[in-house]
Amino acid sequence: MKQIKRISNLFIISNLLFISLLLFGSCEKHSYLVETVNPGDSISLQTDVQPVFTDKCIGCHTGSGTAKLDLRAGKSYASLLNRGFITPPDSTCTLFVTIYGGHYATLLDNEKQKILIWVVQGAQNN
Ligand code: HEC
Repeated sequence: MKQIKRISNLFIISNLLFISLLLFGSCEKHSYLVETVNPGDSISLQTDVQPVFTDKCIGCHTGSGTAKLDLRAGKSYASLLNRGFITPPDSTCTLFVTIYGGHYATLLDNEKQKILIWVVQGAQNN
């Protein structure tokens, strides 16, 4: 009798273990990874920032219509510069203020960071 009780206790414990493994295992699988940009990295307009413009902005910013700013590849730098949107290249410039003010596009944190770091690194045509 004692033997049976011990076996069924073992059975319950191993089942509990199995269930908790399932629970924690699945939590880990769906854990959310926040991607961040290292401010020490040098950020390039062409390889880092333009893909964000192309992905999130040119639905509206093609230089015509109501959004006059042209953010298409090859056009974005001149358009931002000529409109004075990246002058001075710090957190007071229009590009920066617009993005952080919650403009039309939904940007991920790491996309915002890329633009921010590109601006404070001098907003160069790099
Ligand atoms: C759904 C359309 C839409 C999207 C997407 C969009 N914009 Fe705009 N944006 C506009 C319009 C319209 C204006 C001009 C009117 C205004 O200022 O609200 C504008 C104006 C701006 C201005 C100038 C603000 C000023 O004060 O004159 C900047 C800078 C800008 N957008 C940047 C961006 C960037 C960067 C993205 C992508 C991350 C983006 N926009 C995505 C529609 C859009």
